[in-house]
Amino acid sequence: GAPVTVDITPLEAGQRLVREWRGQPIWIVRRSEAILEALPTLDDHLRDPMSENPDQQPEYVLEEFRELRSIKREVSVLVGLCTHLGCSPEMKAEIRPEPFDTAWKGGYFCPCHKSKFDMAGRVYEGVPAPTNLLVPPHFYADDNTIVIG
Ligand code: FES
Repeated sequence: GAPVTVDITPLEAGQRLVREWRGQPIWIVRRSEAILEALPTLDDHLRDPMSENPDQQPEYVLEEFRELRSIKREVSVLVGLCTHLGCSPEMKAEIRPEPFDTAWKGGYFCPCHKSKFDMAGRVYEGVPAPTNLLVPPHFYADDNTIVIG
């Protein structure tokens, strides 16, 4: 499929744009500062916090912000399909207040078999999904233009 160009100018913190690339939903999410600060605190709860499985993302998204899995600090680009059996996870971009679940710092929840991912698409321990959400190949044509593919 052809590359898909996305203007992220209108994307505000906590919001997501959804585009299609090669028949897959692509999520582009601008994360809040609270979420960005919470992500590096989650490592103990995650299966692969440093994204060491190379099949999950292009290497270049790990270069600057390894735990955030993104080229630009605040903007996350993910394939919006659960890595278990391909259901569509729900985005819950708010940090849930205590005491409900102190480990839940926002993320994606798959309703099919209850897999949980954080706002970098990293999978939690103890859920059926085997790997982190995929990051598609992409680059910035300019500060506010992402090219997927
Ligand atoms: Fe998402 Fe099974 S498809 S948990």
